[in-house]
Amino acid sequence: MSRDSRSDDETTTRRRYVAGAGTVAAVSLAGCSGGGGGGSTGDEGSGDDSGDGESSATGGDDADSAALEIVHWWTAGGEQDAYQALLDGFREAHPDVEVVDNPAPGGAGSAIDTVIQNRVIDGEPPSTFQIWPGQALTPYTDEGLLEPIGESVWDDEMRAAYLDGVLDLAQPAGDLVAVPINIHRLNNLFYNVSVLEDAGVDPTTIDDPQGLLDAMETVAAETDATPMAHQTQAPWSSLQLWENVFLGQTGVDAYQTLLEGDVASFEDEVRSALDTMSAYAEYFPEDAGSISWDQGNNDVIAGDAAFLHQGDWAAGQYGSAEDFAFGEDWDMVPFPGTDGVYHSVIDSFVFPTNNPSPEATEAFLNYAGSVDAQERFNPTKGSIPPRTDVPMDAFGDFLSRQFEDFQNSDAQPPTIAHGTGVAPAIQSSLSETFANFNGTLDVDQAYQGIRNAF
Ligand code: GAL
Repeated sequence: MSRDSRSDDETTTRRRYVAGAGTVAAVSLAGCSGGGGGGSTGDEGSGDDSGDGESSATGGDDADSAALEIVHWWTAGGEQDAYQALLDGFREAHPDVEVVDNPAPGGAGSAIDTVIQNRVIDGEPPSTFQIWPGQALTPYTDEGLLEPIGESVWDDEMRAAYLDGVLDLAQPAGDLVAVPINIHRLNNLFYNVSVLEDAGVDPTTIDDPQGLLDAMETVAAETDATPMAHQTQAPWSSLQLWENVFLGQTGVDAYQTLLEGDVASFEDEVRSALDTMSAYAEYFPEDAGSISWDQGNNDVIAGDAAFLHQGDWAAGQYGSAEDFAFGEDWDMVPFPGTDGVYHSVIDSFVFPTNNPSPEATEAFLNYAGSVDAQERFNPTKGSIPPRTDVPMDAFGDFLSRQFEDFQNSDAQPPTIAHGTGVAPAIQSSLSETFANFNGTLDVDQAYQGIRNAF
């Protein structure tokens, strides 16, 4: 099994989403002096396009002619193509703006925090950066490090077009400070159709996480394929898998209670989800500890692995693979036991204070919130748009089905691993717990880690 495209390197991370997650614990950006934005609303002034009302403590002067520097982590799988599609559209709309692409590679933003926090602390932020909306924003809003963009970027047309729940996430402290661009689903179980046929496994009959274990056992017995193409190099994929096992075994209400910090009431269930995961681990790739998510996914594409639990960014990667067709070569079922759930992950861009290019940043954020941007970006990214008026013609069969599932879903709980469900401090402590669990599979220790994190 060869591993090409070594695009990711991984570590740890943070963040949150959706309404209904309670308190805000702050990972503080210690010592940051925000240069203004603070509690003040809208001092950034200037309506619409002419960003002359540059932000508080910026060096000002020739800022408006400065290049637009974008920091993001979309270098893996099909994500690079989606990001390029977004930039192509922006360049068409604003040929005068020079774009400086500055990726911080690492799945689930595992490397971006350090880069951004150091630059923000040094008062030298990029023009904009990728971040999960919701609680992930709060360390920045607490310190006044993001400009309110409710007037300059969010015009009435844009506000009216967005899903309410997503709009809420863009204003965790009251002011709009972010522009969400997509909605990913996390509770997917992807599979290679012919591998499962060879194994005699029908994925549509797997009802719960235990059933998935049985299916993997069968794959191992009947084929040479790796049952599950899971990566353990960075903790986030295991954290998200545990979330999904818990959801599948215990349900959405219990999961929501857990997010509020009540771990003790679900001790048996939390432990049981950890037990299930440690049984799964037997079926991970031998080199799980040294691969990235997209390298694992390459094995699904190559027919060397059967299943992958991953967000639908994995489907973005299938879209850019040759001769790998939805329905014929790959397909997906909701993670066993989570039918009717749309476990959501959202990305957004922000306007940091001390902005080196206020006008270009405003133009970019405005564009990211447009129909054109979301129609170009999402079909390739494997996500659906947060605007309600984006034509779905270009989204293909898989995403059209996801979109339908989203509309028919009973619940869209936020995630932990992609920081939308809990405050950044909890998320990062859980990431540490799962980094250890990946190595030890020690359920007692992991349970204590989960309790302590909350
Ligand atoms: C998520 C992000 C997705 C995708 C994924 C894998 O956190 O929201 O857009 O990039 O990580 O890196």
